[in-house]
Amino acid sequence: MRNTSALIVGAQFGDEGKGKIVDSLVQDEDFDCVVRYNGGNNAGHTIVSDGQTYPLHLIPSGILHPHVTNVIGAGVVVDPAGLVQELATLTERGVDCKNLFISDRAHLVMPWHKVIDAHLGGKIGTTARGIGPCYEDRASRRGLRVGELVDENNRVDKEHFGARFSEVGAHKNELIQKLYGLEPLDLEKELAEIFHLAETFKDRVCDTSELLYQIKTEGKRVLFEGAQGCLLDLDWGSYPYVTSSTVTFSGCLSGSGSAHIPERRIGIVKAYSTRVGEGPYLGELGDYETIKVQDVAKKGEPLPPLSDDEKQKALNGDDLLMGRWIRRAGREYGTTTGRPRRCGWLDLVAVKHAVQVSGLTEVALTKLDILVDIPKIKLITAYKDGDKTLTTFPSRINQLARCQPVYEEFEGFGEVKNAKSFPELPRAAQDFIRRIESYLGIPARIISVGPERSHHLVQEETHVAG
Ligand code: IMP
Repeated sequence: MRNTSALIVGAQFGDEGKGKIVDSLVQDEDFDCVVRYNGGNNAGHTIVSDGQTYPLHLIPSGILHPHVTNVIGAGVVVDPAGLVQELATLTERGVDCKNLFISDRAHLVMPWHKVIDAHLGGKIGTTARGIGPCYEDRASRRGLRVGELVDENNRVDKEHFGARFSEVGAHKNELIQKLYGLEPLDLEKELAEIFHLAETFKDRVCDTSELLYQIKTEGKRVLFEGAQGCLLDLDWGSYPYVTSSTVTFSGCLSGSGSAHIPERRIGIVKAYSTRVGEGPYLGELGDYETIKVQDVAKKGEPLPPLSDDEKQKALNGDDLLMGRWIRRAGREYGTTTGRPRRCGWLDLVAVKHAVQVSGLTEVALTKLDILVDIPKIKLITAYKDGDKTLTTFPSRINQLARCQPVYEEFEGFGEVKNAKSFPELPRAAQDFIRRIESYLGIPARIISVGPERSHHLVQEETHVAG
């Protein structure tokens, strides 16, 4: 397993706990380079290190390790304000970001993208970070790239960028005013701000494809870090309730322009499932409209676990309370907004789809500890569409919406945090994991049993039962 490059990709709807797995791999297996290849600061990766929590959005998860080269590839969309803010937070906390490089081919999220996303993104439940509108402009060849703002000598190119920004901005202001009935942007002010921000990161801009080629030539190892999850992929997710980038294996090649083929392709799978935003979601516990109102968390105020009475009701079939049980135990709330994530049982039909689309070779199972003490746990192993049974993920959203999950039930298990190897896990937890492996046809090599770096075990000798 060592001496190979690897891909980490979410195998559900994002928020699977990728940051922790990337961080552990960098630490334990000596990767030399971490590359982000898709998405933008719509992503949120949380790393816990030495008792400190580092929330990352755009910057790759290898940034805490000074010997690791961190690359933001061409497939990523870069919000200058978001980038500078993240750099400032890291620098303040003593993290040196000189090991960060940004592709000159990456597209820039411009102020109009955020305005348009905030106005139109509600139907999909987007993050309103301007991601979709930015990728739209990339495809329509109206986008502005990092290499237009920062020239080949790492100087801010005021003349070229200023002209392009004014031309595109004037067109966007027309749309914003006439089509959407919103206040136009003050383009001069916005441009001055972007020039100011660019001074902070101009030295980090380069041809990252060339950089990755050099890294390959030196025999170094690369870890590709996908954002979001395969079920939010533009082509292979639950379209149109998806993000606008290629999340899957193919996205890592096009989005990084790299000569590395990741032989090890690790799908991150949470022991249950969550989804943020709108769209059909099988196995969902509770009604989202009610959850949106009743389950919002105030920042910094941890919510108490469920009472014994509420737990009993959940076990007697109250799905809203079962969802809340998992949500509170797993702290499934948006890191910046406090928005409750939708929670449900692990859907193996959907994960198998992710395995096939990305050619995954193994799973990293996360947050097993969150299920501790729930006496009955479920897995979705098929869908019912009327009298038809499906074991493949439908492409049509209307079909997906009318499907009903078919469950397999498992006995719950007690504490898992202290397990250092697979046989040390409770028997019921082993059975649960073995069923996941046999269904997917690949091993769960890494199993995360708690929030700290030390809370994970690796199955060196894996076998896929079944
Ligand atoms: P967008 O990526 O902001 O355009 O949002 C499109 C959809 O993807 C929405 O349902 C978002 O909630 C979802 N989404 C985007 N990024 C993430 C993420 O990092 N984790 C979970 N969901 C995400």
